[in-house]
Amino acid sequence: MTSFRHFALRWILALAAGLLLTVAVPTIASAQDETRNITRGREVYRDKAQCHWCHGWDGRGAESHMGNGPSLRESFLDLAGLIEVIACGRIGSKMPAHDTKAYDDDRCYGIPRADLDEKEVPTPGLAMLRANEIEFVARFLVEQVVQFELTLDYCVRYYGEGASPCAELAPGL
Ligand code: HEC
Repeated sequence: MTSFRHFALRWILALAAGLLLTVAVPTIASAQDETRNITRGREVYRDKAQCHWCHGWDGRGAESHMGNGPSLRESFLDLAGLIEVIACGRIGSKMPAHDTKAYDDDRCYGIPRADLDEKEVPTPGLAMLRANEIEFVARFLVEQVVQFELTLDYCVRYYGEGASPCAELAPGL
């Protein structure tokens, strides 16, 4: 009898542990993983289009000789709104357009270049982006920047483990 109870108890424990594992493992994995497209979006922001000159590596806004960009963490734009601003820039501001054909026709805000004052036409971005690259960077902003607090995790993903800008975000400091 005792050995049967032992056996039953072990079995129950094993089952419970198994259940815990199936519950815990996907949670841990989803906290660490991000889709390849989000990683690409960060690469476009950081390396190709260099949005950080005006919006900061942290998205909290920055002042530079190129322009003073607002904090994107405080933006209220949704995915479609972000895609539009990144593709078309903002008329009459320092926010550049990243779509090669912006203002060639009426794809941007319905206004072609001919209808704008020369000075109002957004300048081209530091790099022009393909439609899918514009979407990747917009998705990166939706998932990790817009209406999110700056975190250590964000910094490590941006700069890599042990980078000095992340030190001040580390817990316990
Ligand atoms: C030369 C400086 C500069 C660069 C480079 C730049 N921006 Fe901007 N951006 C601005 C400025 C200035 C504004 C504010 C425009 C306005 O007055 O509405 C802005 C506005 C925005 C907005 C609108 C925010 C809101 O809620 O209204 C988004 C989104 C944005 N930028 C994303 C980006 C992304 C992504 C990149 C890189 C692909 C980028 N910007 C590159 C200067 C810049």
